[in-house]
Amino acid sequence: MTVQRTFSILKPDATERNLTGAINAMFESNGFRIVAQKRVQLSRHQAEQFYIVHKERPFYGELVDYMISGPVVVQVLEKENAVQANRDLMGATNPANAAEGTIRKTFAESIERNSVHGSDSVENAAIEIAYFFSGSEIVG
Ligand code: CMP
Repeated sequence: MTVQRTFSILKPDATERNLTGAINAMFESNGFRIVAQKRVQLSRHQAEQFYIVHKERPFYGELVDYMISGPVVVQVLEKENAVQANRDLMGATNPANAAEGTIRKTFAESIERNSVHGSDSVENAAIEIAYFFSGSEIVG
């Protein structure tokens, strides 16, 4: 196994409900190190570009509106096999399908207000990290 970095977002439903510490506690108790983190208000342009792969999906407009509806916390998480490990910890995109003990089962309200985003591949993790962080902002 190699130590990897993955990109994470605590979404507006998490910041709104003051859940950032509780979710970070789940990351840390599951062996992730939070090696970069900042709370930001995404611009419409930033959110549109971040989710550009979903541009043709029917939910794209609502997704962008939602992601700019309040502050988010963008993060870099480090752990062995971090990309898959975080997807396992987050649980299914739709919390109705998420397993017990996952972040989305515990906290998410709906498929849109699903509390967290995590990279789906090592390649996308590198792209997403570089979209929000400079090298000097990541301290392992
Ligand atoms: P995320 O991992 O951030 O990537 C795309 C997001 O689109 C996804 O989480 C969901 O929160 C959101 N989304 C909203 N509606 C849907 C849908 N019908 N199917 C998949 N993703 C959706």
